[in-house]
Amino acid sequence: MCGIIGYVGEREMAPLLINGLKKLEYRGYDSYGFCIKDGDRFHVLKKKGRISEDESPLKKIQGNFGIAHTRWATHGKPTEINSHPHFDCKKEISIVHNGIIENAEQLRKMLEKEKHVFVSETDSEVIAHLIEKFYVNSLEMAVKKAISLLDGSFALAIICKNEDCILAVKRGSPLVLGVGKNENFIASDVVPIIEYTKKIIYLKDEEIAKITKEGIEIKNSKGKIIDKKIAEIKWNIKQAEKGKFKHFMIKEIFEQPEVIKNVLRGRIKDNKIKLTLDINFKKINRIILTACGTSWHSCLIAKTLIEKYAQIPVEVDYASEFRYRNPLVSKNDLLIAVSQSGETADTLAAIREGKKKGAKTLGIINVVGSTISREVDSGIYLYSGPETGVASTKAFTSQIMALFLFALYARQEKKCKIDPRLINEIKKLPEKIEESLGEVKKIKSIAKKFVDSSNFLYFGRGINYPVALEGALKLKEISYIHAEGYPAAEMKHGPIALIDGNMPSVFIATHSKTFSKLISNIEEVKARGGKIISIVNKEDKIARKCSDFAINVPRTIEDLSAIVNVIPLQLLSYFIADMRGLDVDKPRNLAKSVTVE
Ligand code: G6P
Repeated sequence: MCGIIGYVGEREMAPLLINGLKKLEYRGYDSYGFCIKDGDRFHVLKKKGRISEDESPLKKIQGNFGIAHTRWATHGKPTEINSHPHFDCKKEISIVHNGIIENAEQLRKMLEKEKHVFVSETDSEVIAHLIEKFYVNSLEMAVKKAISLLDGSFALAIICKNEDCILAVKRGSPLVLGVGKNENFIASDVVPIIEYTKKIIYLKDEEIAKITKEGIEIKNSKGKIIDKKIAEIKWNIKQAEKGKFKHFMIKEIFEQPEVIKNVLRGRIKDNKIKLTLDINFKKINRIILTACGTSWHSCLIAKTLIEKYAQIPVEVDYASEFRYRNPLVSKNDLLIAVSQSGETADTLAAIREGKKKGAKTLGIINVVGSTISREVDSGIYLYSGPETGVASTKAFTSQIMALFLFALYARQEKKCKIDPRLINEIKKLPEKIEESLGEVKKIKSIAKKFVDSSNFLYFGRGINYPVALEGALKLKEISYIHAEGYPAAEMKHGPIALIDGNMPSVFIATHSKTFSKLISNIEEVKARGGKIISIVNKEDKIARKCSDFAINVPRTIEDLSAIVNVIPLQLLSYFIADMRGLDVDKPRNLAKSVTVE
C-alpha cells in the first residue's frame, strides 16, 4: 500500500506535501517522510506515526521540489529508519516506493558484496542502491537498469542531487501525474492533487516520466517519447473533505441516499436498464464474481440476484484465492471484478488471470481511471465520490445497486421482461435509506449499552446473510471487538455454544421467505440468555417482541433489503468504535487501498 506524492513548481513545498500525505493516509499511516531538494541540498525528515500527530518541524523546510511518503509497513517494523524516503550510500539519490520487491533479499546480498551499506530493514532501500550502482550521468538510464532487476510491484518517485527533475515509474502499483501551469505533480492517486489540478495522466507499467516545472516527458519501455491522453477529473475537493461530520465514515454513511441516486442516474429509462456493456449474453455460460473485503460481500449478494434475474450460474471467489488456484476458466465465462478503489492487488491479478484464460471481463469500480477500470473489457462505475473512511460503507451499497442493475440488464438482454414494480421499488430506495438513517439516535443509545462487549454474533439468511458478514466485519475492523457473521440456520452447528448473557447477537429479521425460521433462531438465543438486537421492519410485531432491542428499517422487497438493512449495522459499529475513543477512519493495521498481496 503506502502513499506517494511528489511536486515540482513554485508553491511552498512543505504545506503542499503535508496536506497531500494527510489525504493519502488511508493507504497507510505507520510512518511518513519527506525529501525536499533545495539547490544541491536534500532536506530530509522521517517520523514514526501519523503525519497529523506532529508536523511543525516540516513547516520550517524550504524548497520547491520534493517527494514524500506515508507508509503501511510490509518489510520491517514501522520505525523512523524504515520510513521512506530511502537513500543510496552517498545520500545523493532519494526514492519513495509503494509496492513489494520480492527479490529484495538477493539484491541486498549482491549489493552488500559490492560494499553497499544498508541502514533499514526494508525491501525499498535496495532500489536506491541499485540506482546508485548504475548511475553514471543519467538518472533515467540508471533507473531503467535498476528496475530491470526488480521482481514484484512498485510505484516509484525518485530524485537525485545532480538533476532537476523527478522521475516516476511503476509496475503493478498505481501512480498518476497531475499537469499544472508551471508546476507538476506525482501521486498514488488523484485525491492529494485534485485541489491543485484536475488534469491527470495515468502512467502505465514500465513507462518512465520525467517531471520538471515546465513539463512532463513520458517514454515507453523502448525509450520512445509518447503522447499520453490527459484525463479531466470531474469531482471536486469538497467531496473529499469531512465537512460538518466528525469522521469520514459517518459522512459517507449519510451520503448513501445520494450515492444510490448517482449509481442509478441515467441508467433506468421507461422500465429499461441503460448500460453500455460489450457483452454478448448468449455466449456467457457462467459468471465468476471476484473481490476482497467488503466488495466480496457485495459479490455474495449479487450471486443471488444474477442467478435469479439473469438465470446465469454464478460463482463467487476471493480474488486472492482465485488467482492462485489455477481456476478452470473458458471464453464463455464472464469474470466480474468488484472493487471500490480499482487498485486492490489481488483483484487486479484475478482479472489478469481470467483474461489470460480467455474470459470476458467486467469491472464494478468506484475510482474512475483506476488500474482495474482500465484493464477490464467493460465496466460500470459507481460514481459514489471518494470513499475515505477505511471501513467501506457507501461503496458497499452502491456496489449492490450496480450489480442489481447488471442482473436486470442481463435479463433484458436475454429478452425477459422486467417487472415494473421492481423498478418502482428501486426508485424508492434513496428515501428508504433516509428512513433507516432516521434511527440514528436509537442506534447510538444501543451502542452505549454494548460499548464494552468483547464479542458479537451477527445472523441473517438469504440475501441478508452477507449483510451479517458485513455487519461483523464493520464492527471488528473499527472497534476491535471480535465479531462473526453466520447464516442464521447454521447457528445450531456451533455458534450457539457461545451464547450466554455476555454475548450480543444481531439478527437481520426483516420480512423474507425465511422470516419464521429466523424467529425460531432468535427464540433459541433468547432461551439461552443471549442479548438480542434485531433489525426489523417498522410494522413488525413478531421479531420486535422477542428482541431486547429493535431497530426499525422500512420494508422493501427482499432482493433489495440488503441495501436498507446494512445501514443500522454501519451506524452501530461507527458509534461503538467512536465511544471506545478509537480512530474510526484509520483503524490500526488496516489500509483503505491494499495494493500489495
Ligand atoms: C481493504 C479495505 C476494505 C475493502 C477491501 C477491498 O481491506 O479496508 O474496506 O473492502 O480493501 O478493496 P476494494 O477497493 O478492492 O473494494
